[in-house]
Amino acid sequence: MSRQRVVVGVGGGIAAYKACGLIRLLTESGCHVDVVPTQAALHFVGAATFEALSGHPVFTDVFSDVPSVRHVALGQKADLVVIAPATADLLARAATGRADDLLTSTLLTARCPVLLAPAMHTEMWEHPATRRNVDTLRGDGVHVMPPARGRLTGADTGAGRLPEPADIARLAWLLLDGGTLPWDLDGKHVVVTAGGTREEIDPVRFLGNRSSGKQGHALAALAAARGAEVTLLTSSDLPVPPAVTAIHIDSARELRDETLRAAASADVVIKAAAVADFRPSSVSDSKLKKGSDDEPAEIRLERNPDILAELVSARRGGGVPQSCVLVGFAAETGDASGSVLDHGRAKLARKGCDLLVVNEVGRDKTFGQDQNAGWILDSTGAESRVEPGSKDILAARILDAVVAHSR
Ligand code: CTP
Repeated sequence: MSRQRVVVGVGGGIAAYKACGLIRLLTESGCHVDVVPTQAALHFVGAATFEALSGHPVFTDVFSDVPSVRHVALGQKADLVVIAPATADLLARAATGRADDLLTSTLLTARCPVLLAPAMHTEMWEHPATRRNVDTLRGDGVHVMPPARGRLTGADTGAGRLPEPADIARLAWLLLDGGTLPWDLDGKHVVVTAGGTREEIDPVRFLGNRSSGKQGHALAALAAARGAEVTLLTSSDLPVPPAVTAIHIDSARELRDETLRAAASADVVIKAAAVADFRPSSVSDSKLKKGSDDEPAEIRLERNPDILAELVSARRGGGVPQSCVLVGFAAETGDASGSVLDHGRAKLARKGCDLLVVNEVGRDKTFGQDQNAGWILDSTGAESRVEPGSKDILAARILDAVVAHSR
C-alpha cells in the first residue's frame, strides 16, 4: 500500500473512536493518511489524536489553510476516501451533494473509490430518508457498507453498529489493490463453506487438514459487502465478517447436513471448505491410551459423502433451486499425469458444478497463506487466470465470475 493516499473522513458519532483503529491499520500498511473529521466528530475525538495517528495536520473547514486549496486538493490526490463512521446526517449531505465543510467538499472532488461505513441507531438506519440516501449514493457508485448488528450506544442492540476497523480496512485495501465492490448481490442468498473439516478419532483427537478458512471468510465478507445475505458454514476460528450469519461445523457429515439445509434457499453455494474425503470408521467414546488393550495399531478409514456431488444431484432433483450457482474449489498439486490446470479441467467436468476455482496447494502454498493464485473455470468454457494476490482479490474475482455466470 506504500504511497497510496487515503482520506479518512470521520463523522460525528460515538463510533468516531473506532476510526483511530482504522487510521492506525492504514498507516501501518504504508498508506499516507489525511484525516478529515467533521466539526461534530471533534466532540468525540480530539484533532490531536488524529494528527498523532496519521502524522499529518487535521482540518475540518474550508477556511483553514486556504492557500493550499485543501477542499479541492485532498479529493483530487486521493486514491481512496473512506468515511467511518458515516452518520445519518453525513449520508444525507453526501447524497445531496452538499459541500458545506471540508469532508463533503472532498467527496465532490474525489474521482477515486469512496467507501462509507455507516453507524447510527437502527431506527435512523431503517428510516425511509436514510434508505433513499443510501440508494442514491450506491447509484452514484459509492460503496456503502452494510452496518454490523450488535450493541449500540445505549443498552439497545440492532443493525447500525460500525463494523470493526479490521473489516473496514479489508475493504479499503481491496479497493486500493484494484478490486471492485459493486452492489450486485443485493437480495441474493450466498452460502459459503470454509476451513478444513475435523474427523473425530476419539474425544480429544481428530484427523484434519491445513485449511485455515481465510479464503472462505474472505468470500463471505465480500459477498456481504456486495449486498448478499450470507450463510457461512465454517470450522475456522477466524472472526465472523460483519452482516454474515455463521454456523460452526466440525465434520464433513455435519457440513453436509448444514450445506444441504442452507442450499435449499440459496442463489449461490461456494464450497471453499477443504472437506476430508475419509473419516475413521469407528470413533472411540473414551481417549485412546498408549499401552492399553485398545491401543490402535491402525486407523481404518471410510469415505465421507461428496457434498458437492450431492448438491449437483439435489439441484437436479429440486432440493436446491435450479438457478443456484454451484462453485467448487480444486486443491491440486499437479503430478506426472497432468498439471494443476489439467486436473482442474477434469475435476470441473467430473463434479458437474458451474464454476471451479483451481489453486495450487503444497506445504507453503495457499493453505494458511494470505496470498492465493489460480484459475477460475466456468462450465461454459470460459477460463480466467488470477495472478498471485490477496485472498480478498481472488474472492472478488470469484464473485465477479458468479455474477457473470448468472447473467
Ligand atoms: N468436496 C466435497 N465433499 C468432499 C470432498 C470435496 O464437497 N467429500 C468439495 C470441496 O469443498 C471442493 C471440491 O469438492 O469444493 C473439490 O475438492 P478436492 O478435495 O479438490 O476434490 P476431491 O473431490 O476430493 O477430488 P480428488 O480426491 O480427486 O482430488
